Amino acid sequence: MYKVLTLNQISTKGLSRLPADQYELATDIAAPDAILLRSHKLQIAEISSSVKAIARAGAGTNNIPISACTELGIPVFNSPGANANAVKELVIAGLALGSRGILAGVSYVNTLAHMTDAAEMAKLLEKEKKRFKGNELAGRTLGVVGLGAIGSMIANAALNLGMEVIGYDPALSVDAAWRLPSSVKKMDNLSTLFAKADFITLHLPVLDSTRGLVNSELLSSCKPGCCLLNFAREEIVDVSAVIDALDGGKLRQFITDFPVPSLIGRSDVILMPHIGASTDEAEENCAIMVADQLNDFLSNGNIMNA
Ligand code: MLT
Repeated sequence: MYKVLTLNQISTKGLSRLPADQYELATDIAAPDAILLRSHKLQIAEISSSVKAIARAGAGTNNIPISACTELGIPVFNSPGANANAVKELVIAGLALGSRGILAGVSYVNTLAHMTDAAEMAKLLEKEKKRFKGNELAGRTLGVVGLGAIGSMIANAALNLGMEVIGYDPALSVDAAWRLPSSVKKMDNLSTLFAKADFITLHLPVLDSTRGLVNSELLSSCKPGCCLLNFAREEIVDVSAVIDALDGGKLRQFITDFPVPSLIGRSDVILMPHIGASTDEAEENCAIMVADQLNDFLSNGNIMNA
């Protein structure tokens, strides 16, 4: 019987891949064989000597002490690509929020709850709605930084919206290169991408080389009025540099899937509560992928995606 410590709620579609007669799953279990988690920030002290594998139902592994696991010889499984479609859809929603007066318009309509006369309301809106006018995405340039599973899906979706797409990825894999249409123009460096794009979306893991990558120097090369989207990891962006770029007009808007405290309340910022992968489908796909990997490792010793 394998004992699995589950530190987050994991989709039952995934958990049911671990046969009930072979697995005991619990949120509190002594001497587990494996740890299964999503966003729990795992401490080294939580990894008991019985642990043979750790599995994260998600793409990034920055909530797991990877170097300690490597030293201990514990494989860490994740589910790259399994939630890419959910993130892609939220980024497309972010692009729409960044180009149209959706949030301000919806908030304004909510202030009209006291009005009962539809004709009177229509007359008022006719006058007021020019405040919520936006621009179309078609014809605008989207810069995609990081062309892996998520970035390449976004590049394809943006092309279908009629956008010009440029991309940058210093570590473009052969698989990802195959997924990219030839109309995505690859830039030689980040500052060229920043100088050409009307919208920039970041899809990089957090590594020593990407932490604080979007800093004041890079933002100084932005096309004035650019809209920056960060649905990857909070640490990639230097928040004080973003504030300066917003205040100085280099950036028109910052849209991110992280509720950065110092940005709450700004009208030129949209903050989301890290919901990029929060769909039933993505949670199921991630859970299925890691449960299968975990089972294959514990039962057969096979290692995939570790
Ligand atoms: C990921 O790394 O895939 C996301 O952080 C997923 C999540 O929200 O759990």
